[in-house]
Amino acid sequence: MKLGNIIVGQSGGPTSVINSSLAGVFQAAKELGAPKIYGMKNGIEGLLNEQYIDMREYLKGDMEVEILKRTPSAFLGSCRFKLPTVDKSPETYDRIIEVLRKLDIKHFFYIGGNDSMDTIKQLSEYAAAKNITDITFMGVPKTIDNDLAVTDHTPGYGSAAKYIGTTIKELSRDAVVQLIDIVTIVEIMGRNAGWLAAAAALAKGEDCEGADLIYLPETVFDIDKFLAKVEDIHKTKKQVLVAVSEGIKVADGSYVCEAAAANKAVDSFGHKTLGGTASTLAGIIADKFGWKTRPIEFSTIQRCASHIGSLTDVNEAFLVGGQVVKAAAEGETGKVGIYVRVSNKPYMMNTDIYDVNAIANVEKTVPKEWIINDGTYLSQEAIDYMSPLIQGEVCPYMVNGLPKHIKL
Ligand code: F6P
Repeated sequence: MKLGNIIVGQSGGPTSVINSSLAGVFQAAKELGAPKIYGMKNGIEGLLNEQYIDMREYLKGDMEVEILKRTPSAFLGSCRFKLPTVDKSPETYDRIIEVLRKLDIKHFFYIGGNDSMDTIKQLSEYAAAKNITDITFMGVPKTIDNDLAVTDHTPGYGSAAKYIGTTIKELSRDAVVQLIDIVTIVEIMGRNAGWLAAAAALAKGEDCEGADLIYLPETVFDIDKFLAKVEDIHKTKKQVLVAVSEGIKVADGSYVCEAAAANKAVDSFGHKTLGGTASTLAGIIADKFGWKTRPIEFSTIQRCASHIGSLTDVNEAFLVGGQVVKAAAEGETGKVGIYVRVSNKPYMMNTDIYDVNAIANVEKTVPKEWIINDGTYLSQEAIDYMSPLIQGEVCPYMVNGLPKHIKL
């Protein structure tokens, strides 16, 4: 089936492979004969201001598409924009449809996480209510957090996990050469889901001890128990390596990082800006034991370190982008691309589509039974789940010793 004009946007926190999904959307749209392939600048926020590009002007040949697949962050620019509900702001929806009509758009694609999928949910519901049958609204999954429901995993997670596993290994090597008492605390993103922090467990192997303790937000964080564990480990080794999720919470439900108090910012989706967990815990340890501490925040680096990206992740992100376009060409709307794991050994994965209502605004967390050792480590089952997702290396195109990227 031939496609009409399409428009695609990127939303939420970027990843190493969100552009690979964009490339997948572009390539499939081209192959299915879309006359115009537009990109929203800064997601829906840009669209409301008629900010868009003609993607063919930037992706002239296969080389540009390949570089796009290897370029981290969101090529089109991102936004954290919560679409108001129709009853609160019908004019926002009228405006979106007006801009889409102006460009004669037949297919709207949004690449994002669970908050961004709310945009697809709202728009597809609005279209159904207004009997707008000639525009489809489809979601392409994305998030390093791996917290989307239904899908086996999310595009972006494998690359961030590979960076985390690799860097924990490297930090572990650095720690063991020192003869002094030192507690290194690494803070890893992921909000209320510990999938990313769990990836610290990948570091352990015959050539690496890995992290001594790993804390996820799925279990309540007890500071006294934590201090006792660190003290205990210190009895047999002077260097202790701890991985913590930015979203760990104490029994009253407050984030550990809130103890640092400075960070009170909230984004448009109502999420607190997290960060400062490692420094808070490092301060507590230094005060109690007087040892040297080193808090390390992986922060933004873990979601844009495409030089250590997972080839599996890049390829799958491209595939799912294309799958969603093909489904839209067949008339699907209000759906999101998903991954279905067919087998683990050998690893085999299929793409499919699923109802956006099951995915928008839902957070999938790490199964409790995968968290072992009194909430301080991950089971073999967790490692078997994560391991296939970090396989394969992406070769950046190097220019002057640095990876080449594409930008607007
Ligand atoms: O949702 C992705 C994510 O990277 C989270 O892991 C993190 O908490 C958040 O985005 C950070 O967002 P920002 O860069 O907008 O502060």
